[in-house]
Amino acid sequence: MKHLLATDGLDPAFATAVLDTADELKHTLLGREVRKLPTLRGRTVISMFYENSTRTRVSFEIAGKWMSADVINVSASSSSVNKGESLRDTALTLAAAGADCLIVRHPASGAAQRLAGWLSHVGTAVVNAGDGTHEHPTQALLDAATLRERLGSVEGRRIAIVGDVLHSRVARSNIHLLAALGAEVVLVAPPTLLPVGVESLPVTVSHELDAELPTVDAVMMLRVQAERMHGGFFPSAREYSISYGLNEKRLKLLPEHAVVLHPGPMLRGMEIASAVADSPASAITEQVRNGVHVRMAVLYHLLAGEGAAA
Ligand code: CP
Repeated sequence: MKHLLATDGLDPAFATAVLDTADELKHTLLGREVRKLPTLRGRTVISMFYENSTRTRVSFEIAGKWMSADVINVSASSSSVNKGESLRDTALTLAAAGADCLIVRHPASGAAQRLAGWLSHVGTAVVNAGDGTHEHPTQALLDAATLRERLGSVEGRRIAIVGDVLHSRVARSNIHLLAALGAEVVLVAPPTLLPVGVESLPVTVSHELDAELPTVDAVMMLRVQAERMHGGFFPSAREYSISYGLNEKRLKLLPEHAVVLHPGPMLRGMEIASAVADSPASAITEQVRNGVHVRMAVLYHLLAGEGAAA
């Protein structure tokens, strides 16, 4: 395994190995004063973010540093991208400068895959940190890690993914990973926020959140991505919140053991009420924490594990 580009087609054995490694790393570092392992000493990890990020960028940086890699962040706004340099030339430049791994976030679906193709002769690993509306594989892996931790397993669980599925790379990555790990996925969304071809995905579809909540082990709320809705938002924010917002009344419909997830950033009061986001059922802070260990595990498997980049 050289790159991590998508969960669609990802070997479930590789995904499970990443989750097991993340769990091991978490327990190894627990309570340590100095959270530093020598595993990736001498390796260089460069992140290229062409879209805004808080969680993904910071957790990859922490993950690399805790593994003793040299970590460099390149943002489009302060690099030669601003002078018109292409993604291909930027990637080849960073690889020539010594990157063992490039972590890329880009607004174009398929950008990470293209980058991996351009770098195929160079030996630089590529990690997709979110490409357009396509995939965000490390988010799905950290979500699976959080579900495993809270529920004991992913296999056999029923998970609702709720909201703006159409524009969500988080939803797409979760659909494929959760199905590969043996979970049952139900998409709950208005018809206008479901993708064309949804019937070919390994999911069932519902438009009735209240009917689904009592039947699920976890509910994954999605961010409404207004920045990708150039033609306007239908239903309106108010209608969306009334039908699909996770409020305190709806929280009571969930089984007692059920977990609430959200990839962030959250639109509090619209997709999810503050009282729900901050409730004991919410694992949102744990998702962020697990993101560091999962990204450490991904870097380990790509750069130091069996079949790693040379
Ligand atoms: N969940 C997620 O990708 O968050 P960021 O955009 O802050 O990285």
